[in-house]
Amino acid sequence: MPTIHIESLDETATLAQTLAQLLTPYSVICLEGTLGAGKTTFTQSLAAGLGIRRAVKSPSYTLVREYEEGRLPLYHIDLYRLEEAAVEDLYLEDYYESPGVTVIEWGSNAPEELPKEHLLIEIKTFAEQPTVREFIFQAKGNKYERLIQQLIDEYLKHKKGE
Ligand SMILES: Nc1ncnc2c1ncn2[C@@H]1O[C@H](COP(=O)(O)OP(=O)(O)O)[C@@H](O)[C@H]1O
Ligand SMILES: [Mg+2]
Repeated sequence: MPTIHIESLDETATLAQTLAQLLTPYSVICLEGTLGAGKTTFTQSLAAGLGIRRAVKSPSYTLVREYEEGRLPLYHIDLYRLEEAAVEDLYLEDYYESPGVTVIEWGSNAPEELPKEHLLIEIKTFAEQPTVREFIFQAKGNKYERLIQQLIDEYLKHKKGE
């Protein structure tokens, strides 16, 4: 599976901002990884890349936060505490059907609520190397195959300083 090796917080920010430039309306991104992997951190840089200046906070308690001021609206969803709220009350399809970008943390808590097509990003951590990450990309549905290739190409260009 396409994987990007990350050494630092700065590289995570570059990767997220590169993705932000490539995103189109109706995009859905699911972020998987353990607590502290960097899902919210990645989303914060993605938001910055979309031109959102407001501080992006973890939606752990509210479950959803909306940011309308960027190049595309951002809907940031965190299903970590899903057991305290009924998922059907969140009307997630309304976000998927809006011409913005939906980012979902802990989507695995409600797999049947995820859209068939989405970009799945798994973030792996390494106990001995606290700032190292592996970002593993999986296209669910054809729509995201090309995006993954573009993202990897653009990210590697950035790294080479082009
Ligand atoms: N390369 C990196 N990418 C993302 N986060 C990193 C990285 N290196 C260190 N961190 C730290 O790991 C933590 C990730 O936390 P957070 O983004 O809240 O995780 P999650 O949302 O996955 O639970 C933050 O404190 C962040 O500063
Ligand atoms: Mg989080």
